Amino acid sequence: MRKPAVPAQMEALVLASYGPPPFPLGVETRPVPMPGNGQVLIRVTASPVNPSDLHFLEGEYAFRKRLPTVPGLEGCGRVVAVGDGLLARRLAGKRVAFAPATQADGSWAQYAVASATQCFRLPDRISDEVGAMALVNPLAAIGLVERLKALHATSFVSTAAASALGQMLLRLGRKRGLDVINVVRRPEQVDLLTRQGATHVLSTADRDFKDQLDELCRRLRCRVALDAIGGDMTAQLLGALLPGGRAIVYGGLARQPMVLPQPDIVFGNKSVEGFYVPTWLATKSLPKLVLLERRIPRLLDRELGTDVRERVTLEDAPRAIEDYRHAMTGGKVLITPDRSRGTTR
Ligand SMILES: NC(=O)c1ccc[n+]([C@@H]2O[C@H](COP(=O)([O-])OP(=O)(O)OC[C@H]3O[C@@H](n4cnc5c(N)ncnc54)[C@H](OP(=O)(O)O)[C@@H]3O)[C@@H](O)[C@H]2O)c1
Repeated sequence: MRKPAVPAQMEALVLASYGPPPFPLGVETRPVPMPGNGQVLIRVTASPVNPSDLHFLEGEYAFRKRLPTVPGLEGCGRVVAVGDGLLARRLAGKRVAFAPATQADGSWAQYAVASATQCFRLPDRISDEVGAMALVNPLAAIGLVERLKALHATSFVSTAAASALGQMLLRLGRKRGLDVINVVRRPEQVDLLTRQGATHVLSTADRDFKDQLDELCRRLRCRVALDAIGGDMTAQLLGALLPGGRAIVYGGLARQPMVLPQPDIVFGNKSVEGFYVPTWLATKSLPKLVLLERRIPRLLDRELGTDVRERVTLEDAPRAIEDYRHAMTGGKVLITPDRSRGTTR
């Protein structure tokens, strides 16, 4: 196979400073990064915009990078150059889903560097579009359901349940025979989940939401909540769960500090724990990671599927990110750097 030529320069979406929206993002020409030891260079074909990206742009994510930087926390593409190391060399020429190295530039660019350990090989039948969304949410869904299993949960509350990840949790939960209490914030989202076969969907827009939640948790003997919202929501969940209940917080969509109810924690023996995919993955042995790499593609067009609302070039991405920020339900924005101005191939 002929090696694809790697150009010296590429187009990338660059963030100038961290802070609240509107985000200072613009397309710039940058040098194509070089893969280091154990790393690969990927020609990026698609990369989604997730809530974690919005937190990153605001400077409120798990880490910050030196500015200016290229955002983008996952993507799909073909490995076009490799650094030293067996793992990296084995990926030469392969199509992968990847998470960029935390201190390197991100995936909203024509090329990105990732550690070989942060790449999952994609079988041919998985499209680039589907592959671009194969890591962040699918891994979170699998990890959270694993936690439900460890806690012997027979039911769980799921907040922000109309999100892409919320819908995955609904499908995986139903498949395992669990009762899912879906919590959303708008009537259209109740309809969306009901059409997908959800039995219990509560809206925080209802005046008696708290009573409905308390009653359902009592009836379904619910002790676990998977919470993407934080803020006031976590306290409401703890209040509704049975004694010994646990809220597993995996997102901060409320962008508000959590104020926790002391009586529920002290007298009700209830607790809060966090969930973060990289921390969970770090607990997995290499054979377990290989099993995950095989398992995810099998589920991507079923339980772990994600809708796409729009495919955009790098130039059009800032507008699409702004639209997404205002109404996040309804599928992902996919950035497709291949179709951008100045494409070098
Ligand atoms: N911890 C981890 O490792 C991990 C991994 C993956 C994902 N996550 C988290 O999982 C969550 C869902 O991600 P996703 O990609 O599935 O999201 P998504 O598809 O983009 O959807 C986000 C959903 O959240 C709703 N929402 C936004 N702000 C809200 C608020 N303040 N209160 C209630 N609902 C709100 C949106 O409703 P509207 O349409 O009304 O805006 C939308 O339904 C995010 O918090 C993300 O950070 C965490």
